Amino acid sequence: MSVSVYAPPSVGNVSVGFDSLGLALQPIAGQQVGDVVTVSAAHHDQWHVKGPWAHALPTDPKENAIHDVHQRFNQALKAKGMTPKPAKVVLDKRLPIGSGLGSSASSVVACAVALNLFHQQALSDEDLLSVMADAEAKISGGYHLDNVAPAFTGGLQLMTPFADQPFVVLPELLGLYWVVAYPGTQLNTQASRSVLPSELPMPLAIEWVQRTAAFVDACHRQDLQGAGALLQDVVAEPHRVQLLPGYADLKALLNDQGALAVGISGSGPTVFAVTDDLTQAQAFEKLMASEYVANERGFVHICKADVAGARVVQQPDELKGAVA
Ligand code: HSE
Repeated sequence: MSVSVYAPPSVGNVSVGFDSLGLALQPIAGQQVGDVVTVSAAHHDQWHVKGPWAHALPTDPKENAIHDVHQRFNQALKAKGMTPKPAKVVLDKRLPIGSGLGSSASSVVACAVALNLFHQQALSDEDLLSVMADAEAKISGGYHLDNVAPAFTGGLQLMTPFADQPFVVLPELLGLYWVVAYPGTQLNTQASRSVLPSELPMPLAIEWVQRTAAFVDACHRQDLQGAGALLQDVVAEPHRVQLLPGYADLKALLNDQGALAVGISGSGPTVFAVTDDLTQAQAFEKLMASEYVANERGFVHICKADVAGARVVQQPDELKGAVA
């Protein structure tokens, strides 16, 4: 038995919701740019990585996220009195590391969901979420689900302070295009968090909560223009802009061209521009490619919300057949 699971990339933060809003992305051209994990029957546990970004991962697969997720998954199974089946776990690493596109969450979610399917969905969504959240926290240096939740469930997710319901699904603003530009350089999440202040002045805290609450309201009313206008990061972006060469100039150009919003995706260096018009999205794509992509590893995609989240995909041919 073998199962392959794809988990989409995500934007988290979405400007107004620091560590609190996450959006799964699907390029409109149809590419599956997120990671895929394949779990198949084996005589003993083993871990392998391949794909365009495998070179950026630790050479010892036991230091990789899939090993950590596998250990946590097995512990969770044993805690419920079940016996894990030996498995071969293969990560197809398609998302760049340290990109701000939820790269680690994509690996973690694809791996956990694939392992659970391999074990006939032995863990509940709640137990699986706990495995994923702990694994992601170890990698990113903080307990925040703003990439894990959308990669798992799809759409636009709002994190809550409640352990029994850690996030709620918002209407995903399907009329919006999210043009995301990855420059081709790496920015570690922990480094990007280290420039943030530990406290917020009261006026900023008030503006932050007002913007977040009004954005949620605009989502529910499907007010695309209103939602876009509210997307301004008053908390993290002013401190992180120094880490993103060229971003301030790009943002000014995009705003001049009528972008509804421009922001940093997660902890960067990927940035996004929002519009409700496809022709404008195509113009932004060209501009971002010429002004922000710094090397051949960079890319720009015009995306919409990915509403499916983690899903089974056809397994690669080489994994069919004999038990390893
Ligand atoms: N929300 C996080 C941050 C990124 O902005 O630091 C990953 O969850």
